[in-house]
Amino acid sequence: MLFKQQAWLRQKILVLGSLAVGSLLYLVARVGSLDRLQPICPIEGRFGAHGQAEFPLRALQFKRGLLHEFRKGNASKEQVRLHDLVQQLPKAIIIGVRKGGTRALLEMLNLHPAVVKASQEIHFFDNDENYAKGIEWYRKKMPFSYPQQITIEKSPAYFITEEVPERIYKMNSSIKLLIIVREPTTRAISDYTQVLEGKERKNKTYYKFEKLAIDPNTCEVNTKYKAVRTSIYTKHLERWLKYFPIEQFHVVDGDRLITEPLPELQLVEKFLNLPPRISQYNLYFNATRGFYCLRFNIIFNKCLAGSKGRIHPEVDPSVITKLRKFFHPFNQKFYQITGRTLNWP
Ligand code: A3P
Repeated sequence: MLFKQQAWLRQKILVLGSLAVGSLLYLVARVGSLDRLQPICPIEGRFGAHGQAEFPLRALQFKRGLLHEFRKGNASKEQVRLHDLVQQLPKAIIIGVRKGGTRALLEMLNLHPAVVKASQEIHFFDNDENYAKGIEWYRKKMPFSYPQQITIEKSPAYFITEEVPERIYKMNSSIKLLIIVREPTTRAISDYTQVLEGKERKNKTYYKFEKLAIDPNTCEVNTKYKAVRTSIYTKHLERWLKYFPIEQFHVVDGDRLITEPLPELQLVEKFLNLPPRISQYNLYFNATRGFYCLRFNIIFNKCLAGSKGRIHPEVDPSVITKLRKFFHPFNQKFYQITGRTLNWP
Protein backbone atom coordinates (compact mmCIF):
# COMPACT_ATOMS: atom_id res chain seq x y z
CA MET A 1 0.00 0.00 0.00
CA LEU A 2 2.79 2.37 1.07
CA PHE A 3 4.71 1.41 -2.03
CA LYS A 4 1.69 2.21 -4.22
CA GLN A 5 1.26 5.64 -2.58
CA GLN A 6 4.97 6.46 -3.10
CA ALA A 7 4.77 5.49 -6.80
CA TRP A 8 1.66 7.66 -7.24
CA LEU A 9 3.42 10.62 -5.55
CA ARG A 10 6.50 10.16 -7.75
CA GLN A 11 4.27 10.11 -10.82
CA LYS A 12 2.51 13.30 -9.70
CA ILE A 13 5.84 15.08 -9.09
CA LEU A 14 7.01 13.95 -12.52
CA VAL A 15 3.89 15.29 -14.24
CA LEU A 16 4.00 18.62 -12.37
CA GLY A 17 7.74 18.91 -13.00
CA SER A 18 7.27 18.32 -16.74
CA LEU A 19 4.48 20.88 -16.79
CA ALA A 20 6.67 23.47 -15.07
CA VAL A 21 9.63 22.82 -17.39
CA GLY A 22 7.30 22.89 -20.42
CA SER A 23 5.78 26.21 -19.36
CA LEU A 24 9.22 27.66 -18.76
CA LEU A 25 10.41 26.56 -22.19
CA TYR A 26 7.26 28.01 -23.77
CA LEU A 27 7.81 31.35 -22.03
CA VAL A 28 11.44 31.52 -23.12
CA ALA A 29 10.44 30.79 -26.71
CA ARG A 30 7.59 33.29 -26.60
CA VAL A 31 9.74 36.10 -25.21
CA GLY A 32 12.35 35.31 -27.84
CA SER A 33 9.80 35.47 -30.64
CA LEU A 34 8.21 38.63 -29.25
CA ASP A 35 11.59 40.21 -29.24
CA ARG A 36 11.87 39.36 -32.90
CA LEU A 37 8.38 40.34 -33.85
CA GLN A 38 7.91 43.56 -31.92
CA PRO A 39 10.94 45.72 -32.51
CA ILE A 40 8.92 48.64 -33.86
CA CYS A 41 5.76 47.85 -31.91
CA PRO A 42 4.50 49.41 -29.67
CA ILE A 43 4.19 52.48 -31.82
CA GLU A 44 3.19 54.75 -28.90
CA GLY A 45 6.58 54.21 -27.30
CA ARG A 46 8.48 55.63 -30.25
CA PHE A 47 8.07 59.30 -29.56
CA GLY A 48 10.92 61.16 -27.97
CA ALA A 49 10.89 64.25 -25.82
CA HIS A 50 10.57 66.57 -28.82
CA GLY A 51 7.69 64.74 -30.38
CA GLN A 52 10.02 63.12 -32.90
CA ALA A 53 9.51 59.48 -33.65
CA GLU A 54 12.26 57.21 -32.41
CA PHE A 55 12.99 54.16 -34.47
CA PRO A 56 15.12 51.42 -32.98
CA LEU A 57 17.79 50.17 -35.31
CA ARG A 58 16.31 46.70 -35.09
CA ALA A 59 13.39 48.06 -37.09
CA LEU A 60 15.68 47.79 -40.08
CA GLN A 61 15.97 44.03 -39.61
CA PHE A 62 12.25 43.87 -39.08
CA LYS A 63 11.70 45.66 -42.37
CA ARG A 64 13.75 43.05 -44.12
CA GLY A 65 11.90 40.25 -42.37
CA LEU A 66 8.24 40.30 -41.51
CA LEU A 67 7.25 43.41 -43.47
CA HIS A 68 8.93 41.84 -46.47
CA GLU A 69 6.76 38.75 -46.06
CA PHE A 70 3.67 40.94 -45.78
CA ARG A 71 4.66 42.71 -48.95
CA LYS A 72 5.01 39.44 -50.78
CA GLY A 73 1.55 38.48 -49.56
CA ASN A 74 2.86 35.66 -47.37
CA ALA A 75 1.06 36.88 -44.28
CA SER A 76 -2.36 36.08 -43.01
CA LYS A 77 -5.04 38.70 -42.34
CA GLU A 78 -4.71 37.77 -38.67
CA GLN A 79 -1.00 38.63 -38.68
CA VAL A 80 -1.73 41.95 -40.39
CA ARG A 81 -4.36 42.78 -37.74
CA LEU A 82 -2.16 41.55 -34.90
CA HIS A 83 0.71 43.75 -35.96
CA ASP A 84 -1.39 46.84 -36.57
CA LEU A 85 -0.27 47.00 -40.16
CA VAL A 86 -1.94 49.23 -42.69
CA GLN A 87 -1.62 50.17 -46.33
CA GLN A 88 -1.17 53.93 -46.35
CA LEU A 89 -1.32 56.46 -49.12
CA PRO A 90 2.11 58.01 -49.67
CA LYS A 91 3.10 61.00 -47.58
CA ALA A 92 5.84 61.79 -50.06
CA ILE A 93 6.30 61.02 -53.74
CA ILE A 94 9.44 61.03 -55.85
CA ILE A 95 7.84 62.64 -58.90
CA GLY A 96 10.93 62.53 -61.11
CA VAL A 97 13.02 63.15 -62.99
CA ARG A 98 13.49 60.06 -65.15
CA LYS A 99 17.18 59.02 -65.08
CA GLY A 100 17.84 61.48 -62.28
CA GLY A 101 18.54 58.67 -59.82
CA THR A 102 14.95 58.05 -58.72
CA ARG A 103 15.50 54.36 -57.94
CA ALA A 104 18.68 55.03 -55.96
CA LEU A 105 16.90 57.73 -53.95
CA LEU A 106 13.92 55.50 -53.16
CA GLU A 107 16.09 52.55 -52.15
CA MET A 108 18.34 54.71 -50.03
CA LEU A 109 15.44 56.38 -48.24
CA ASN A 110 14.05 52.94 -47.57
CA LEU A 111 17.08 52.40 -45.32
CA HIS A 112 15.32 54.66 -42.85
CA PRO A 113 13.27 52.63 -40.36
CA ALA A 114 10.35 55.07 -40.64
CA VAL A 115 10.16 54.82 -44.42
CA VAL A 116 8.45 52.07 -46.37
CA LYS A 117 8.80 52.10 -50.13
CA ALA A 118 6.38 51.03 -52.79
CA SER A 119 8.76 48.81 -54.74
CA GLN A 120 7.10 49.11 -58.13
CA GLU A 121 6.36 52.28 -60.03
CA ILE A 122 2.59 52.50 -59.59
CA HIS A 123 1.84 54.96 -62.44
CA PHE A 124 -1.46 55.86 -60.85
CA PHE A 125 -1.59 59.57 -61.61
CA ASP A 126 -0.09 59.54 -65.10
CA ASN A 127 -2.01 56.58 -66.48
CA ASP A 128 -5.68 57.32 -67.20
CA GLU A 129 -6.66 53.67 -67.00
CA ASN A 130 -5.08 53.28 -63.56
CA TYR A 131 -6.41 56.60 -62.37
CA ALA A 132 -9.94 55.57 -63.32
CA LYS A 133 -9.61 52.63 -60.89
CA GLY A 134 -9.79 55.09 -58.01
CA ILE A 135 -7.82 55.97 -54.90
CA GLU A 136 -8.62 52.70 -53.10
CA TRP A 137 -6.95 50.80 -55.91
CA TYR A 138 -3.91 53.02 -55.43
CA ARG A 139 -3.89 52.50 -51.66
CA LYS A 140 -4.09 48.75 -52.09
CA LYS A 141 -0.93 48.93 -54.21
CA MET A 142 0.94 50.34 -51.22
CA PRO A 143 3.09 48.16 -48.97
CA PHE A 144 2.07 47.30 -45.41
CA SER A 145 3.45 49.63 -42.80
CA TYR A 146 2.94 50.77 -39.24
CA PRO A 147 0.75 53.87 -38.88
CA GLN A 148 3.73 55.99 -37.81
CA GLN A 149 5.83 55.01 -40.79
CA ILE A 150 5.57 56.89 -44.03
CA THR A 151 5.06 55.33 -47.42
CA ILE A 152 6.99 56.68 -50.39
CA GLU A 153 6.45 55.84 -54.01
CA LYS A 154 8.29 56.91 -57.14
CA SER A 155 6.96 57.25 -60.65
CA PRO A 156 9.25 59.53 -62.67
CA ALA A 157 6.65 60.02 -65.40
CA TYR A 158 4.64 62.13 -62.93
CA PHE A 159 6.99 65.09 -63.34
CA ILE A 160 6.34 65.57 -67.04
CA THR A 161 2.69 64.48 -67.32
CA GLU A 162 0.25 67.34 -67.67
CA GLU A 163 -2.62 65.98 -65.53
CA VAL A 164 -0.59 64.74 -62.59
CA PRO A 165 -0.19 67.85 -60.38
CA GLU A 166 -3.95 68.40 -60.17
CA ARG A 167 -4.63 64.73 -59.50
CA ILE A 168 -2.07 64.54 -56.69
CA TYR A 169 -3.38 67.79 -55.26
CA LYS A 170 -6.88 66.28 -55.13
CA MET A 171 -5.52 63.31 -53.17
CA ASN A 172 -3.44 65.33 -50.70
CA SER A 173 -2.77 69.03 -51.07
CA SER A 174 -0.04 68.95 -48.38
CA ILE A 175 1.93 66.01 -49.77
CA LYS A 176 5.74 66.33 -49.95
CA LEU A 177 7.25 66.16 -53.39
CA LEU A 178 10.79 65.08 -54.16
CA ILE A 179 12.48 65.93 -57.46
CA ILE A 180 15.87 64.43 -58.17
CA VAL A 181 17.70 66.14 -61.00
CA ARG A 182 20.99 65.66 -62.80
CA GLU A 183 22.90 68.01 -65.04
CA PRO A 184 20.36 68.27 -67.92
CA THR A 185 22.64 67.19 -70.80
CA THR A 186 23.93 64.15 -68.88
CA ARG A 187 20.36 63.25 -67.98
CA ALA A 188 19.27 63.53 -71.62
CA ILE A 189 22.13 61.23 -72.69
CA SER A 190 21.23 58.78 -69.93
CA ASP A 191 17.62 58.85 -71.14
CA TYR A 192 18.79 58.19 -74.70
CA THR A 193 21.03 55.33 -73.50
CA GLN A 194 18.09 53.60 -71.86
CA VAL A 195 15.99 53.81 -75.04
CA LEU A 196 18.96 52.72 -77.17
CA GLU A 197 19.47 49.65 -74.99
CA GLY A 198 15.80 48.75 -75.38
CA LYS A 199 16.09 48.98 -79.16
CA GLU A 200 19.28 46.91 -79.20
CA ARG A 201 17.63 44.25 -77.10
CA LYS A 202 15.00 43.93 -79.81
CA ASN A 203 17.70 43.89 -82.50
CA LYS A 204 16.51 47.22 -83.79
CA THR A 205 18.69 50.04 -85.00
CA TYR A 206 18.34 53.53 -83.59
CA TYR A 207 19.47 57.05 -84.42
CA LYS A 208 22.59 58.53 -82.93
CA PHE A 209 21.99 60.90 -80.04
CA GLU A 210 23.38 63.81 -82.06
CA LYS A 211 20.79 63.24 -84.79
CA LEU A 212 17.92 63.32 -82.31
CA ALA A 213 19.10 66.19 -80.16
CA ILE A 214 19.97 68.58 -82.97
CA ASP A 215 17.50 69.58 -85.67
CA PRO A 216 19.33 68.90 -88.96
CA ASN A 217 17.47 71.72 -90.74
CA THR A 218 18.19 74.51 -88.30
CA CYS A 219 21.23 73.03 -86.54
CA GLU A 220 19.58 74.17 -83.33
CA VAL A 221 18.63 72.05 -80.34
CA ASN A 222 15.62 69.92 -81.18
CA THR A 223 13.06 70.79 -78.52
CA LYS A 224 10.67 68.23 -79.94
CA TYR A 225 12.98 65.45 -78.77
CA LYS A 226 11.53 64.12 -75.52
CA ALA A 227 14.88 63.59 -73.80
CA VAL A 228 15.63 67.28 -74.37
CA ARG A 229 12.20 68.47 -73.21
CA THR A 230 12.33 66.41 -70.03
CA SER A 231 15.58 68.15 -69.09
CA ILE A 232 13.96 71.61 -69.20
CA TYR A 233 13.14 71.19 -65.53
CA THR A 234 11.81 74.67 -64.93
CA LYS A 235 9.07 74.30 -67.57
CA HIS A 236 7.66 71.23 -65.85
CA LEU A 237 8.08 72.65 -62.37
CA GLU A 238 6.10 75.73 -63.33
CA ARG A 239 3.08 73.54 -64.05
CA TRP A 240 3.37 71.97 -60.60
CA LEU A 241 3.59 75.37 -58.97
CA LYS A 242 0.05 76.14 -60.08
CA TYR A 243 -1.05 73.62 -57.44
CA PHE A 244 1.68 73.37 -54.80
CA PRO A 245 3.78 76.03 -53.06
CA ILE A 246 7.53 75.68 -53.54
CA GLU A 247 7.95 74.74 -49.85
CA GLN A 248 6.35 71.39 -50.61
CA PHE A 249 9.14 70.47 -53.02
CA HIS A 250 12.63 69.33 -52.25
CA VAL A 251 15.27 69.18 -54.94
CA VAL A 252 17.79 66.36 -54.66
CA ASP A 253 21.08 66.74 -56.48
CA GLY A 254 21.25 63.48 -58.42
CA ASP A 255 24.88 63.99 -59.41
CA ARG A 256 25.86 64.37 -55.76
CA LEU A 257 23.73 61.37 -54.78
CA ILE A 258 26.07 59.31 -56.95
CA THR A 259 29.32 60.58 -55.46
CA GLU A 260 28.31 61.58 -51.94
CA PRO A 261 24.90 60.12 -51.08
CA LEU A 262 24.80 60.68 -47.31
CA PRO A 263 24.55 64.50 -47.19
CA GLU A 264 21.83 64.40 -49.86
CA LEU A 265 19.88 61.83 -47.86
CA GLN A 266 20.28 63.84 -44.69
CA LEU A 267 18.71 66.83 -46.43
CA VAL A 268 15.77 64.64 -47.41
CA GLU A 269 15.40 63.31 -43.85
CA LYS A 270 15.17 66.91 -42.69
CA PHE A 271 12.64 67.82 -45.38
CA LEU A 272 10.47 64.85 -44.43
CA ASN A 273 10.77 65.71 -40.70
CA LEU A 274 12.33 62.36 -40.00
CA PRO A 275 14.88 61.83 -37.25
CA PRO A 276 18.33 61.30 -38.82
CA ARG A 277 18.79 57.55 -39.01
CA ILE A 278 20.61 56.86 -42.26
CA SER A 279 24.34 56.78 -41.58
CA GLN A 280 27.57 56.16 -43.44
CA TYR A 281 27.33 52.56 -42.20
CA ASN A 282 24.31 52.08 -44.48
CA LEU A 283 26.22 53.14 -47.60
CA TYR A 284 29.43 51.68 -48.92
CA PHE A 285 31.24 52.27 -52.17
CA ASN A 286 31.43 49.20 -54.40
CA ALA A 287 34.41 49.62 -56.72
CA THR A 288 33.22 46.89 -59.08
CA ARG A 289 29.86 48.59 -59.58
CA GLY A 290 31.39 52.07 -59.42
CA PHE A 291 28.50 53.17 -57.21
CA TYR A 292 27.45 53.31 -53.61
CA CYS A 293 25.51 50.26 -52.47
CA LEU A 294 23.20 49.77 -49.50
CA ARG A 295 23.94 48.05 -46.22
CA PHE A 296 20.89 47.21 -44.10
CA ASN A 297 22.80 45.19 -41.48
CA ILE A 298 25.81 42.92 -41.19
CA ILE A 299 24.07 40.25 -43.21
CA PHE A 300 22.04 42.08 -45.77
CA ASN A 301 23.37 44.50 -48.35
CA LYS A 302 22.56 45.21 -51.96
CA CYS A 303 23.57 47.21 -55.00
CA LEU A 304 21.15 48.58 -57.55
CA ALA A 305 20.44 46.49 -60.65
CA GLY A 306 22.87 46.60 -63.56
CA SER A 307 20.41 48.70 -65.56
CA LYS A 308 21.30 51.58 -63.23
CA GLY A 309 24.65 53.02 -64.15
CA ARG A 310 24.91 52.21 -67.83
CA ILE A 311 27.89 53.28 -69.89
CA HIS A 312 26.82 56.23 -72.02
CA PRO A 313 27.78 56.39 -75.69
CA GLU A 314 30.31 59.01 -76.69
CA VAL A 315 28.64 62.19 -77.85
CA ASP A 316 30.13 64.83 -80.14
CA PRO A 317 31.57 67.52 -77.80
CA SER A 318 30.14 70.31 -79.96
CA VAL A 319 26.64 68.86 -79.42
CA ILE A 320 27.24 68.73 -75.69
CA THR A 321 28.35 72.36 -75.70
CA LYS A 322 25.30 73.36 -77.70
CA LEU A 323 22.97 71.54 -75.36
CA ARG A 324 24.60 73.01 -72.27
CA LYS A 325 24.26 76.49 -73.71
CA PHE A 326 20.63 75.77 -74.50
CA PHE A 327 19.80 74.55 -71.00
CA HIS A 328 21.72 77.32 -69.22
CA PRO A 329 18.92 79.94 -68.98
CA PHE A 330 16.38 77.31 -67.95
CA ASN A 331 18.75 76.10 -65.26
CA GLN A 332 19.19 79.63 -63.90
CA LYS A 333 15.43 79.93 -63.62
CA PHE A 334 15.23 76.54 -61.93
CA TYR A 335 17.82 77.60 -59.32
CA GLN A 336 15.97 80.82 -58.76
CA ILE A 337 12.59 79.17 -58.23
CA THR A 338 13.80 76.29 -56.08
CA GLY A 339 16.46 78.16 -54.13
CA ARG A 340 18.95 75.40 -54.91
CA THR A 341 21.94 76.29 -57.07
CA LEU A 342 23.55 73.28 -58.66
CA ASN A 343 26.49 74.83 -60.52
CA TRP A 344 25.78 73.08 -63.78
CA PRO A 345 27.87 74.31 -66.72
P1 A3P B 1 22.98 56.13 -65.61
O1 A3P B 1 22.46 54.78 -65.98
O2 A3P B 1 22.89 57.13 -66.68
O3 A3P B 1 24.35 56.09 -64.99
P2 A3P B 1 16.73 56.34 -62.50
O4 A3P B 1 16.67 55.39 -61.34
O5 A3P B 1 15.95 57.58 -62.25
O6 A3P B 1 16.43 55.67 -63.78
O7 A3P B 1 18.22 56.86 -62.59
C1 A3P B 1 19.27 56.03 -63.02
C2 A3P B 1 20.57 56.69 -62.64
O8 A3P B 1 20.76 56.58 -61.24
C3 A3P B 1 21.76 56.03 -63.25
O9 A3P B 1 22.00 56.70 -64.46
C4 A3P B 1 22.84 56.23 -62.20
O10 A3P B 1 23.88 57.10 -62.61
C5 A3P B 1 22.13 56.88 -61.04
N1 A3P B 1 22.51 56.39 -59.72
C6 A3P B 1 22.59 57.18 -58.62
N2 A3P B 1 23.01 56.50 -57.58
C7 A3P B 1 23.20 55.23 -57.99
C8 A3P B 1 23.63 54.05 -57.32
N3 A3P B 1 23.96 54.06 -56.05
N4 A3P B 1 23.72 52.90 -58.05
C9 A3P B 1 23.40 52.90 -59.36
N5 A3P B 1 22.97 54.00 -60.04
C10 A3P B 1 22.87 55.15 -59.35
